[in-house]
Amino acid sequence: MDFTRITVEPLGRQHDRTAFHCGVEALDRYLKQQARQDADKRVAAPFVAVSQPDKRVLGYYTLSASVLTLADLPDDLARKLPRFPQLPMTLLGRLAVHQAIKGQGLGEHLLLDALQRSLIHADQIAAIAVVVDAKSEEASRFYGHYGLKPLQAHPLQRFVPMTTVAKLLSE
Ligand SMILES: CC(C)(COP(=O)(O)OP(=O)(O)OC[C@H]1O[C@@H](n2cnc3c(N)ncnc32)[C@H](O)[C@@H]1OP(=O)(O)O)[C@@H](O)C(=O)NCCC(=O)NCCS
Repeated sequence: MDFTRITVEPLGRQHDRTAFHCGVEALDRYLKQQARQDADKRVAAPFVAVSQPDKRVLGYYTLSASVLTLADLPDDLARKLPRFPQLPMTLLGRLAVHQAIKGQGLGEHLLLDALQRSLIHADQIAAIAVVVDAKSEEASRFYGHYGLKPLQAHPLQRFVPMTTVAKLLSE
């Protein structure tokens, strides 16, 4: 896949999402019916992968500010953190790729883009980790493939410490 012909940009009115189809009905519906409203209300920031020059939406993800508790984290990591009741994190709530181009690397491209965006943001407004909300076991395995570990009480949620993101992206 030629990633120089794909831009990742904030979802706007100009993006035609009607043909988007990732194989998970709830994720398709979200992009078509709710994502713009969530963006307007600042509940979530949706980003779309757009092919150039034909402007087709090939994939998307959403980011939001959220919190976790020390009990969500494995002991070895929790021990190093202050005992605040809640700790800041960045939530990668959804990530999906158009079914026609699955298996060609766009999922990885979007995940790395989301991690990079989260890291840049965390330099200004701190977050200790990126947490992903996998909607199924299969989706969770995708994130596991990249080393994201399950949260203690929420097996379908996985996380990567922001320090690890910084190390990974500086390599
Ligand atoms: C999961 C999803 C985003 C992957 O996107 P994709 O573009 O097909 O994935 P890529 O081609 O970038 O795959 C990158 C790597 O992840 C691996 N991978 C992809 N899906 C995987 C899965 N479900 N489990 C384990 N590994 C997976 C690939 O084998 C590849 O590994 P390699 O680099 O070692 O060859 C896509 O299949 C999708 O949109 N699924 C439906 C929606 C969904 O479940 N979203 C996730 C949670 S909200």
